[in-house]
Amino acid sequence: MSARWLDDELEDADTVPAPRSKFKTKRPLGRRKLATLTTESDDADDILRRLKDLGHVTEIVAELKSGKEATAYVARGPRGSVLVKLYRELEARSFKNDAIYREGTVILKDRDRRAIENRTRTGLQMLQSGWVNAEYAHLWTLWHAGLNVPEPLVGPDPYDYSATTPAVLMKLIGTEDEPAPRLSDAALTPAEATSAWEQSVTGLSQLLRLGFVHGDYSTYNLLWWENTVIIIDFPQLVTRQNPNFRDLLARDVQSLVTSFRKHGVHADPDTVLRDVQRRAAGPAPEPRLVLP
Ligand SMILES: Nc1ncnc2c1ncn2[C@@H]1O[C@H](COP(=O)(O)OP(=O)(O)O)[C@@H](O)[C@H]1O
Ligand SMILES: [Mg+2]
Repeated sequence: MSARWLDDELEDADTVPAPRSKFKTKRPLGRRKLATLTTESDDADDILRRLKDLGHVTEIVAELKSGKEATAYVARGPRGSVLVKLYRELEARSFKNDAIYREGTVILKDRDRRAIENRTRTGLQMLQSGWVNAEYAHLWTLWHAGLNVPEPLVGPDPYDYSATTPAVLMKLIGTEDEPAPRLSDAALTPAEATSAWEQSVTGLSQLLRLGFVHGDYSTYNLLWWENTVIIIDFPQLVTRQNPNFRDLLARDVQSLVTSFRKHGVHADPDTVLRDVQRRAAGPAPEPRLVLP
């Protein structure tokens, strides 16, 4: 992997703080109430209305965070508080330089492949629904496997969850008044930092044990709630089919190590990588029961 390649990628990843933008609402404190929402687009309104019509959501409570790839809303549904991750409009999204993550996946139809490569509207739509479906599918797999991830709220049948595109619905971690902070924003005591680090390395090992690399693993995609680390943001998860698998694993380790420095944890990436690989061969978490 060339250094140039790494630089290009990291610039676009959550692992590097994005330049300050006056449009960015970083913390829940600055969140907007629905009544005052002048939504980014009418499209967002339409989608939120569709989620209500489908019965997944009864009320949108607030906009939590507007990020590069998606806007997160706090909502209420039949089973409690919901986090709605609404993917950006097609043209505005960077798709996280999706090509490296998609390598190794096969697109059967030439026409579909060309549409994606040429970024036509159809191609972009295919990419977007691909990311949404991938995020749901990964959430279900990891949730069933017993990892600390938010519970997905639509599915596991793809027929059900594909109806919510371009939104992904999952359980809100934290409370409506106090959604869980990301580890990058949390103030941790030294003991908490040690525990958070340990849990984060365990999470990476558990993913690897299942044959996955997260692809954007750092404190920006780890939530901290009740002394527990919860992993989020899965559209770009890669499997061993991807020729960049090992490089992406090494990069995730590096991002985790770098992003933990501000919590006073200083680890050597090579040692951590070996530790993660060793632990990936160890015991798995208890799978969650699948109720009929
Ligand atoms: N289940 C959840 N519970 C609480 N907050 C969440 C949850 N999922 C995501 N968030 C918040 O929404 C933000 C954006 O989600 P994320 O999946 O990281 O999307 P992206 O980084 O692509 O914008 C996160 O940084 C986090 O603050
Ligand atoms: Mg993220």
